[in-house]
Amino acid sequence: MSIHILATEHMADLASKVYERLKDKGFLYAEVEYVPFPSLEVKPRILATVRCEHTYLFHSLHHPTPNDAIVTLLLTNDALARSSAESITLVLPYMSYLRQDRKDESRVPISARVMANLIETNPKVKKIITLDMHCDQAQGFYNISVDNLPGSMVLAPHFQEKYGHDLSDLVVVSPDYGGTKRARDFAGYLGGRDEIGVMEKQRSGNRADKVETLGYQGPSVDGRNVVLYDDMIDTGGSLISATKALRNFGAKKIYAVASHGIFSPPQADLTAEERLRKAGMQVVITNTIPRSEQYQKENEDWLTMLPLDELLAKAVFETSTPGGSISSLFRKKDKR
Ligand code: R5P
Repeated sequence: MSIHILATEHMADLASKVYERLKDKGFLYAEVEYVPFPSLEVKPRILATVRCEHTYLFHSLHHPTPNDAIVTLLLTNDALARSSAESITLVLPYMSYLRQDRKDESRVPISARVMANLIETNPKVKKIITLDMHCDQAQGFYNISVDNLPGSMVLAPHFQEKYGHDLSDLVVVSPDYGGTKRARDFAGYLGGRDEIGVMEKQRSGNRADKVETLGYQGPSVDGRNVVLYDDMIDTGGSLISATKALRNFGAKKIYAVASHGIFSPPQADLTAEERLRKAGMQVVITNTIPRSEQYQKENEDWLTMLPLDELLAKAVFETSTPGGSISSLFRKKDKR
């Protein structure tokens, strides 16, 4: 039995880089064709036989919109099942709708659960590999196994390289209480640093300009560099507000770091990119949400996008190998 890697349209680049790393280990790549109809419906077709084989399908749940993306995923899963694939592992680096994980007001859905139900309608889908889910507990919405890789595994080495072995000047800060554990984990990946800072955030409505930072708890940032660590940057409101407060507390250079760069369409007349550039932010993200080379070039003065192909290739290999271990990828550095 062989293992096929496949990708939907926006993930072809990342998936083929993963394949390049695995082709010597017997992995194969299968193209998927998407035939569009004038009505805007779409028909996927798997261009190689996958009968009785394990398949890894890479998909962006953000492109071209989160809502279109879920239908494309369901149709592609169905095409794979009807092609008699033995199993489907979904590689979904960014999972949309995870912020709606509870009934936080009357008469609203738990959208993260709805997405899980939809994905699990196809019994051939056996596993999901993802990065930095908005909250770990969302794994419980699924009956299949969900491997939730920490983005820190890619983001922390970037800072270790930048700062060499002297990280004493760097304070890791979470922009809100919800992200405390994530920031602590990132600090751990940097080399066993226990103390982190936490900002208190208040948001009124959905507008990016309505985020207010109310306070800060943690080590002094006066005269020190700061890594503001979050799972995602959407409008940029949380990080811009936190950055303003940290600058008032005397922080030197501030890096905004996150796994997912969503960068939503304009709020208050500016795109997220324009708001972040205008605020003088230096932003580091991974490519869970793929962007073109041209986009990256146009934004390279403020944005660094770290590639995920090495981490995902390891995750695909470990999960497809009898006796393989995903947790072996998670090991943190010893305390210095
Ligand atoms: C919130 O709980 C998340 O972890 C992020 O802090 C938030 O979604 C970022 O959104 P924005 O960039 O729009 O402030």
